[in-house]
Amino acid sequence: MQTWSTRIIGATSVFPERILTNADLEKMVDTNDSWIVSRTGIRTRRIAAPGETTSTLGAEAAKKLLQQVNRDPQQIDGIIVATVTPDMPVPSSACIIQDKIGAKKAWCYDLNAACCGFLFGLSTADQFIKTGKYKNILLIGSEVMSSILDFEDRTTCVLFGDGAGAVYLEADEIESGQHGVIDTLMYSDGSGAEYLYVPGGGSRHPASHDTVEKRMHYVRQEGGPVFKAAVHGMTKITEEILQKNSMSNSDIDFFVPHQANLRIIDACSKRLNLEPQQVIINLDRYGNTTAATIPTCLAELVEDGRLSKGKIVLMAGFGAGFTCGAALVRWG
Ligand code: UT7
Repeated sequence: MQTWSTRIIGATSVFPERILTNADLEKMVDTNDSWIVSRTGIRTRRIAAPGETTSTLGAEAAKKLLQQVNRDPQQIDGIIVATVTPDMPVPSSACIIQDKIGAKKAWCYDLNAACCGFLFGLSTADQFIKTGKYKNILLIGSEVMSSILDFEDRTTCVLFGDGAGAVYLEADEIESGQHGVIDTLMYSDGSGAEYLYVPGGGSRHPASHDTVEKRMHYVRQEGGPVFKAAVHGMTKITEEILQKNSMSNSDIDFFVPHQANLRIIDACSKRLNLEPQQVIINLDRYGNTTAATIPTCLAELVEDGRLSKGKIVLMAGFGAGFTCGAALVRWG
């Protein structure tokens, strides 16, 4: 019997041109560069221009990716877009991207697992490929977080940014575990929903004058509990996936954590005994791009030539929901 494994054969990223610095934010809310850098590690983030959306950024990343991996859009069986900021509630941004890139045969859907969207999408796509059902899947994490940020709320607006990352997943006829996706893990804890959410615009509080006046269509976060749960969750899931696959921290070439806060990344890396050169960070330049943090980090590794065939990559994330995910991959 044939066993299929899921190879990740390429990764790209796209960011809007406009850079929003901490100094710019000082003029908008009661904050300062020193607080933002010392409490989060973020120095700049990108902000979408009018007309730049989750689907335009995602489609641009997808087009770049198809060129990088030299594949025809007609070959794509499916498109999964991880996002909390779709162009609109219906249709999915994945369908809009399909049309923009001419992937006529692909089924498409959006997936909302917040900051774990990319990892949950990878896990889902991996099952489709490993069972032999589909052979080519485009997985995109794309966000225009600025569309749900309250630029009068200093506790949230300094944290997030816009951007998109894409990876091409391809079935390979070799024994599973040789290379490609080795394993994935997904967890959720809905009791954490109250700490990170957007209250308005859904079926609980449909958009109205009242919801807009109360600024309910913006993201709200109680940072402390999320911080603690993120450090605990990401450390635990990383240890679990390593143990389950008989690996240790020294087997990892690159640890790609979700980019929410440098202090969270540092705390996890310390607990996992990882060396600084193993830990990938783009948060300082792009802020927290939610579902796009991990694929944009992968793209950076590919673009600067560090992510060569055979390298072991461990990804871990934590986000609203709560959601927690991890993936272990042998690249190429
Ligand atoms: O990606 C999804 C998952 N999200 C996360 O993982 C985020 C997790 N949480 C965090 O990263 C951190 O909790 C934050 C960065 C959001 C906040 O950092 P913190 O060290 O937990 O600060 P805090 O919320 O305890 O606030 C400390 C102080 C407060 O003032 P008082 O009450 O001590 O007077 C805040 O009002 O810092 C104040 N503060 C600010 N000051 C200047 C909050 N935001 C700002 C700001 N500028 N932007």
